[in-house]
Amino acid sequence: MCGIIGYVGEREATQVLMTGLNQLEYRGYDSAGIAVRTGGNLDVRKRAGDIETLEDAIEENAPTGSTGIGHTRWSTHGPPTDANAHPHTGEDGEVAVVHNGIIENYGSLKEELQAVGRTFTSDTDTEVIPHLIEQFIAGGASPERAFREAVDRIEGSYAVVATFANSDVVFAARNDSPLVVGVGGDGHYLASDVPAFLEFTDQVVYVDDGEVVTLHSDRFEVTTTDGLPVEKSVETVDWDVEDTGKSGFAHYMLKEIHEQPTALRQCLSGRVNELDGQVELDGLEAIGQPSQVQFVACGTSYHAALLGAQRLRDKGIPARATLASEYAVSPPPIDDSLVTGVTQSGETADTLAALREARGRGARTLAVTNVVGSTAARECDAALYIRAGPEIGVAATKTFTSQVVTLSLLAEYLDAGDADGALVRERLRALRDLPDLVQRVLDDSRAEEIADEYVGSESYFFIGRGPNRSVALEGALTFTEITYEHAEGFAAGELKHGPLALVTDETPVFTMVTGNDEAARKTVSNVKEVEARDAPVVAVTDGKTDVEDYVDDVLALPGAHPSVLPLLANTQLQLVAYHVANQLGRSIDKPRNLAKSVTVE
Ligand code: G6P
Repeated sequence: MCGIIGYVGEREATQVLMTGLNQLEYRGYDSAGIAVRTGGNLDVRKRAGDIETLEDAIEENAPTGSTGIGHTRWSTHGPPTDANAHPHTGEDGEVAVVHNGIIENYGSLKEELQAVGRTFTSDTDTEVIPHLIEQFIAGGASPERAFREAVDRIEGSYAVVATFANSDVVFAARNDSPLVVGVGGDGHYLASDVPAFLEFTDQVVYVDDGEVVTLHSDRFEVTTTDGLPVEKSVETVDWDVEDTGKSGFAHYMLKEIHEQPTALRQCLSGRVNELDGQVELDGLEAIGQPSQVQFVACGTSYHAALLGAQRLRDKGIPARATLASEYAVSPPPIDDSLVTGVTQSGETADTLAALREARGRGARTLAVTNVVGSTAARECDAALYIRAGPEIGVAATKTFTSQVVTLSLLAEYLDAGDADGALVRERLRALRDLPDLVQRVLDDSRAEEIADEYVGSESYFFIGRGPNRSVALEGALTFTEITYEHAEGFAAGELKHGPLALVTDETPVFTMVTGNDEAARKTVSNVKEVEARDAPVVAVTDGKTDVEDYVDDVLALPGAHPSVLPLLANTQLQLVAYHVANQLGRSIDKPRNLAKSVTVE
């Protein structure tokens, strides 16, 4: 996700901002920029690429001034280019703006601003904000009034920070995107996360949704959007600089598991209208209305693809998922298929090869990816972004959940014609509620206890049926990746055709049983089979069957719509894998022999 830094004080702003951007690097980004108030002007420098590239653009004649803002961008609207990098300006030289999040109504605002003659120079949603502010200033508003009016007009998720040519004050506002004030002896700071200014101060004030911050050199004010003062307390953070990128979590993986509610909100933002049962996905015109879908993917993304294919089949659209490395060996007929690569990085060689193979045989192709401008996104006819923000841990966690939710949206989108409206609305409501439910699982999970109990076992098995089979496969893959222990996932019904021979009292079996349909009831029968062989069984369940009577331990899931329960079960398994690996002292974020992005076939 993007990073923000702002400063007003006695120091050289360029130096503070560049330090902040370097501290934000760990979050991942594809471009960076700063704007510094020099006299009555704004000096903006921004570049696609890394911070070193930006440093080169600044080195010779660094902007001088003691007020400014900076940003590391992770593309969501438009590829990583100099023009799309933040800060963004209008055309009157009045204001520069940095923004994290997504402006949902930017399309209509842009049209409105263009209609009054404003010219846009980027593909971003953010650019509407400086134009709006300048429009209000041109109408006679003060910078503060103009900022507040602009914030009032934007919808979506945002942390937005603005600096002005004619005022030595920085303004900021937030909704659903983090923002924190740093209180220093030599000035005041604003950032998306504490590490950005930790080198200068450890005194922080957390800004809440619906609040507006006014930052001066010697003080700061927090008010409501209506201008009423808000009392805030200053807290001291005691993070060690080493750990700052992890926001207090012991590992990136754990941080990313906990980021899932935010990532999912970001994924859904502006795409779902559950009242009229509509799903809006930008940029998919090129894929038309395919009569079937073939997914190609590797690793965790393959498991997301299995869930996506199932979702489509449930809706009557023929769909299958194939391991990308197997696709070219015996490619299925293309007919009228949309071949969809599911790849968080957009760079996995096997997936790219499968997409190229399909394209060569005349297929329309779609990339479902986390990285704007990645090879998959560029080479396919269309790209659909999962918007999970950068993931640093090698084991995919938040990108998996965001992929599955994105594929669920794709299924609704492709089925728009015939779907039963009430059922669609019910499923969309379930997706809307999912971030809160994942949060509940994270808050209440007993995974650490379960990990304590079973660490040191001989092997670990994961079983489930239907969507829960995909969760079992993913649970076992994540477990193997980071614990270096032997783990396997099976279709629950296949146990008796082989794997049961491996089951002993030394092999815990994690079983996913959700709902109370036939698949769940049959899985309970499979649980009895393993229990009879003395295997310890942990049920990951919402308690709708009597499975709890036959198992040793339970990882409880909150009540939820059947379509989202597998994702809640997966969150529990992520935590179990994490805690077992932690107990074993493994290199969790960078497991041996594995890489985040595999660019060889
Ligand atoms: C590597 C990673 C896995 C990932 C797979 C596919 O093997 O270690 O975590 O699932 O690549 O990556 P992609 O970027 O295509 O989703």
